Amino acid sequence: MHLSIRGGTTLSGTVPIAGAKNAVLPGCAASLLTDEPVIIHRVPRLRDVATIIAVISELGKDVEYRDDTIVIRHGAPLHSQAARRYVEQMRASFLVLGPILARLGRAIVPLPGGCTIGPRPVDYHLQGLSALGARVKDGMDRVVLTADELRGARFRLPYPSVGATEQLLMAAALASGETVIENPAREPEVFDLVSLLTQMGANIEADQDVFRVRGRTELGGGEHTVIPDRLEAGTYLIAGAITAGTVTVTDVRPDDLTAVVAALGESGVHVAVADDAITVDGNDRPRPITITTAPYPGFPTDLQPPLVALLARADGESVVRDTVFPTRFGYVAALNRMGAKIAVSTGAARITGVDGLTGTDLTAPDIRAGAALVLAALTADGESTITGVDQIDRGYTEIERKLQKLGAKIDRRD
Ligand code: EPZ
Repeated sequence: MHLSIRGGTTLSGTVPIAGAKNAVLPGCAASLLTDEPVIIHRVPRLRDVATIIAVISELGKDVEYRDDTIVIRHGAPLHSQAARRYVEQMRASFLVLGPILARLGRAIVPLPGGCTIGPRPVDYHLQGLSALGARVKDGMDRVVLTADELRGARFRLPYPSVGATEQLLMAAALASGETVIENPAREPEVFDLVSLLTQMGANIEADQDVFRVRGRTELGGGEHTVIPDRLEAGTYLIAGAITAGTVTVTDVRPDDLTAVVAALGESGVHVAVADDAITVDGNDRPRPITITTAPYPGFPTDLQPPLVALLARADGESVVRDTVFPTRFGYVAALNRMGAKIAVSTGAARITGVDGLTGTDLTAPDIRAGAALVLAALTADGESTITGVDQIDRGYTEIERKLQKLGAKIDRRD
């Protein structure tokens, strides 16, 4: 299967944004904290969502998909061991570790795979769970955790890791006493998990600098609608900008996209923000900018590849640094094959803007780099084919249908 894209069309129109993948994934892991039903609305049909559903189903949950709602019920007694074949496919599967441990006092989870965006260790997850009293046996290819009882503790994350913060929030919700997580991640998806856990009866005080969790002996079910996907929204805004088009994303929370709106504005794209919609109006060539990714509220690393694609056609030299995943520039070679002039050094891309790109055969290496190649192909002269579409499907629902509605010449072919 591949995407076939004929570039050069100016996009115009409106795209409704789906629920956030990165909120649904921890939400599904959180369902393991209870035997009561957990209902999640606004769930996007994505490969990564199918993967987490497979993981929790194998662990004992009974999951029913109804339109964009999933109903997660108790099926079989909870297992302590997660299936390797799924955890290898997607790093977020590792989030089941804390909930299983908290419920059963024992958890065995393979070390995760996922996007090829640089080293992604799990040491902060393990250090945090150890602080709560878990004994960790860290093997070559899996971790075995045991705990007679998880006890609340004060733990300072060395870095505001999204996954480690979520892992600790879930484990601490069922630990005895109070857990204080210092230097937590503040991504909107983390706060979305806090609202689901709170619905399930967890006692969490989450302010900007510190999260306090007073553990409960058990949690109940919950019903929750996830937040809009700010990364999908950002990608379509950049699609509008890169084609010098006018694109509106709807059903979004603009406050989650402040850094993205600022970056687009700085690059000369006209951006109009409404209550739950954002419109971009692109120029033929954006202005060059210098930008550094950072944990939220900074510019998101996940939109770094699409932004680099946009700046490849800027009218001058841009610099994009990625402090979150400094080696996340593997896709740049593909942009250069399309005629871009981008030099990568440790943690940064120096982009000399060119007048135009040329379509070619491309392979999507991961979700967001895949999206960046789609955007580059949309602005390129001639035709591009993009294989590895399953990577793009991990994070974008019906990308070709949404782009076709905006006027793009894009097809999915076998
Ligand atoms: C989440 O991954 C997202 N995934 C990623 O989105 C996103 O790129 C990333 O956060 C950063 O925003 C989900 O939410 C499911 P981290 P996560 O732990 O939690 C280092 C996408 O395309 N680190 O915040 O795995 C790590 O190496 C994806 O949707 C450790 O050193 O990211 C990285 O440099 C891909 N040890 C930094 O922290 C640890 O134990 C941030 O990683 C954990 C992390």
